Amino acid sequence: MAQANKRPLSPHLSVYSWGAHMLVSILHRATGSALAFGMVLLTWWLVALAGGPDYFNLVNGYASTVLGRLVLFGLTFALMQHTASGIRHLFMDTGKLYDLKANTNSALLTFVFSLIATVAIWVAAYKVMGVL
Ligand code: HEM
Repeated sequence: MAQANKRPLSPHLSVYSWGAHMLVSILHRATGSALAFGMVLLTWWLVALAGGPDYFNLVNGYASTVLGRLVLFGLTFALMQHTASGIRHLFMDTGKLYDLKANTNSALLTFVFSLIATVAIWVAAYKVMGVL
């Protein structure tokens, strides 16, 4: 047991200093997991679509509640943030954005993009529905 305690530990979140680059990294995993859950919801909605008007209206009714809209808004943000952060990852895979300033700025850019894109998508959706 004493031997096991002497083994080296892999780095923990606590050893890194906080910054946009760290937040975007954590959010990439969190949004990826949220999107996997979102795919289950999307599949359910598609099954409802194929299941006839009664079942579709039931599932659509859940989606239209305040809670349903909050979940969908969160999933929209998750998709935008994960996409922006994923594209940032692709740049980093080519050896770019490792300079600290470029790394932080690109991390901040993903938040700016995802917030604007999420609001734009919801404004467009409400306009299409005639609510706005
Ligand atoms: C519904 C769609 C998506 C789902 C469910 C999804 C899910 C995930 C999950 C679970 C991970 C692993 C995260 C981790 O454990 O750290 C991941 C990683 C990744 N995703 Fe997505 N993703 C989706 C869309 C996208 C899109 C549109 C992009 C755009 C480029 C993208 C780019 C990436 C990249 C580059 C990684 C690897 C990041 C790394 O190297 O650590 N994903 N995704």
